[in-house]
Amino acid sequence: MQPDPTSSQPEIEALLVEQRTFPPDPGFAARANATADLHAEAERDVEAFWAAQARERISWFTPFETTLEWDLPFARWFDGGTLNVAYNCVDRHVERGLGEKVAYHWIGEPGDRQTITYRDLQARVNRAANALRELGVAKGDRVAIYLPMIPELPVAMLACAKLGAPFTVVFGGFSSEALADRINDAGAKVLVTADGGWRRGRKVGLKHHADAAVASTPTIEHVLVVSRLRDGCHMVEGRDHWWGETVDRQSDRCDPVPVESEHLLYLLYTSGTTAKPKGIVHTTAGYLLGTSFTHHAVFDVKPDDVYWCAADIGWVTGHSYIVFGPLANATTGIIYEGAPDTPAWDRWWQIVEEYGVTILYTAPTAIRSFMKQGEAWPRGHDLSSLRLLGSVGEPINPEAWLWYHTHVGGGRAPIVDTWWQTETGSILISPLPGVTTTKPGSATFPLPGIGADVVDAAGVPVPPGGGGYLVITRPWPSMLRGIYGDPERYRETYWSRFPGRYFAGDGAKRDEEGYFWLLGRVDDVMNVAGHRLSTIEVESALVDHPSVAEAAVVGKSDEVTGQAIFAFVILRAGHEPSDALALQLREHVAYVIGPIARPRYLLFTPDLPKTRSGKIMRRLLRDIAEGRPLGDTTTLADATVVDTIRENTGSAED
Ligand code: WTA
Repeated sequence: MQPDPTSSQPEIEALLVEQRTFPPDPGFAARANATADLHAEAERDVEAFWAAQARERISWFTPFETTLEWDLPFARWFDGGTLNVAYNCVDRHVERGLGEKVAYHWIGEPGDRQTITYRDLQARVNRAANALRELGVAKGDRVAIYLPMIPELPVAMLACAKLGAPFTVVFGGFSSEALADRINDAGAKVLVTADGGWRRGRKVGLKHHADAAVASTPTIEHVLVVSRLRDGCHMVEGRDHWWGETVDRQSDRCDPVPVESEHLLYLLYTSGTTAKPKGIVHTTAGYLLGTSFTHHAVFDVKPDDVYWCAADIGWVTGHSYIVFGPLANATTGIIYEGAPDTPAWDRWWQIVEEYGVTILYTAPTAIRSFMKQGEAWPRGHDLSSLRLLGSVGEPINPEAWLWYHTHVGGGRAPIVDTWWQTETGSILISPLPGVTTTKPGSATFPLPGIGADVVDAAGVPVPPGGGGYLVITRPWPSMLRGIYGDPERYRETYWSRFPGRYFAGDGAKRDEEGYFWLLGRVDDVMNVAGHRLSTIEVESALVDHPSVAEAAVVGKSDEVTGQAIFAFVILRAGHEPSDALALQLREHVAYVIGPIARPRYLLFTPDLPKTRSGKIMRRLLRDIAEGRPLGDTTTLADATVVDTIRENTGSAED
C-alpha cells in the first residue's frame, strides 16, 4: 500500500486483515440487556437519552435541572441535582430488600476468605465513614488510600464518598515517592494504608513506604492503618491509628452526605509524558451514570450473575468495574487479592469453578500469560459457568482473542473488547453482547450516545479501510472534568490537537464495515520507508504464529529506511529459540501483512518490560533497541527484565 499522496503526512497504515466474524448467539440475544435500538434512541436526542438514563439509574436527593452545560472543553452534567454515590452503591439496595445479597466474595492469596453481603458492606462503610469523620474528614477534604486488594479498599472509597470527601487511590505497588507526589498534589488530609499484603506467597510490607512518603507530605494529619499481616509495624503516636481500634468501635449508622452532581468524587493519577503525574478529575453524577450504564449494557449483568473483574482497584478499571459500576447495579462480585500463578497457574480457573463465575473481565497481558503456560491449566477445571468474557487495557491480538474464546469461554461466551481510558471514566467503544457481531481484535463500535471518529493529521475523517487518530466528538457523562489544579494542561493535552474534539492519544483504523480497530498509542507508531505502521499489527502477526505467546515491536533508527522494525518475542511453553525459528517468524509476518512489515531485528526474550498495570513499555524497548540509556523507569513493574533483554540484544539482527 502506498502512502496517500494527497496528505502531507501519511496516516497510520492499516495492513492486517482479520476475516473471522462471530455473530451473537440467538439464545444470548433473546435475554440480552442491550438491544439494537439503543444506538438509534441515543442518536435521536443524545441529551434526552442521558437524562432518561440518569433518572432511571440514579437515586437523587434533589432532581437535576439541566442535563449538560458544555463550555468546551469544560462540561457540567446534571446540574441542580444532589445525590450520594455510597447511598446509590450500597444503602438503597439494603432498603429495597437486598441486604442478604452478596456484594463481594473476597479471596485472600493465602486462602483466607470473606463473604460480604450488602448489609455487611453498609455497616463496614458506615463505621469507616464515622472513623474518618472522627479524624477530621468533612465534605470536600481529600483522603489518600494506599492499600492492597483487601475489603477495606472498596470500603474506604465508599466511606469517603459517603462523606462527600474526594479520595485518591494510589496503587499498592507504587513507591513512597510516587505516593508522596500524589498526596501533595491532592493535598490529602488523611492517609489510609495497611501494614502490608500478600503477593506470590510472600508478605509485602507497605507501611514503611507510607511512613517514608508522609515524611514529606505536610497536609497529612492522620494515618489509618489496616492490619492485614497481623505482625505489627511502626506506629507514630498521635498520627497513626489502627483500623481495628478506630473503625470497629464506631456506630454502624451514618447518613449519606448529599453532594452536587459535579462534586469531586475522586482523583486518579496517570503518568504523562512529563514527570509530573496528572490528577484526572472525576465527579459524582456523570461518573456514576457512565459506569452503571456501561456495566449493565456491556457486561449484560443479571441479578444472579457472579461477576469478576480481575483488575487491581488501584487502576481505573477497578474503580469503575469492581467498585462503582457493579455496586450501583447491586451485583455480586469477586475480589482476589493475589497473583494468577500462586500457588499455580490455575488459581483463577479454580476460583471460577468454585464460585461459579459467570462473567470475567481481564487484560490481554493476562490472557497472553495464560496462553504461554498452555491450555492444560484452564482445561483442568469446569469453566462452564462462564457466559461472557471481557478484555481491556491494550489492543488484544486476534490469536489471543481466539485462545480466550476457545479455552476460557468454551467457544460459547461472547467477548467484549472494551476500549476506554482513565480519562474517559467508563467504556466508550465496545461490542454490545447479544447485539454486535464481533471480529477478533476489534473493539467494534462506539457505545450508544458516544461519538467517535478516526481522522487524519488535518482532522478530516479517514475513508473506510484507513488508519489515523481516534477522537471523541462530543462530551459524555463520565468524561474527565480536568486535570486537578491545571485547566491549561487539560486543554492542551486533550483538546488542542484537533480543536473541538477530544484526542485520546491512540491510533485507530476503521474497516469497510465501520468497525473500529485500536492501533496503540500514536507515540509508538513506526515509520518504515515512509510507511507509518502500527506496532499492534506486526505484534498480532507474530502472535498469529503457533510458537509465539507474546510480542512487542518498536522502530529502531535506520539510515536507509528511517526506522527498521525490531521485534521482541516470547515463545509459548514447549518452543525453543533458534535462528531457524527467527527466520520463520520473519517470513510469517511478511506473509501475513506484507514484506514492508518484516522485522529486521528479532530477539527471543523470556519477558517484556511492562507497567504495573500490564501495558508493554515500548518506550523502554526503543531505548534498548537504540542502545541508549533508559528513560524514566518509575512505572516499570520489574526492573530486572530490561537488564536481561539488554544482555542479549547483540544476536537480534537478520
Ligand atoms: C489502551 C484503561 C486497545 C489505550 C481502561 C488507551 C486499549 C489506554 C483498550 C488507557 C482496548 C485500553 N483496545 N487499547 N480495548 N483499552 N486501551 O488509562 O491505549 O490505564 O488509551 O485505562 O489503554 O489506559 P488506562
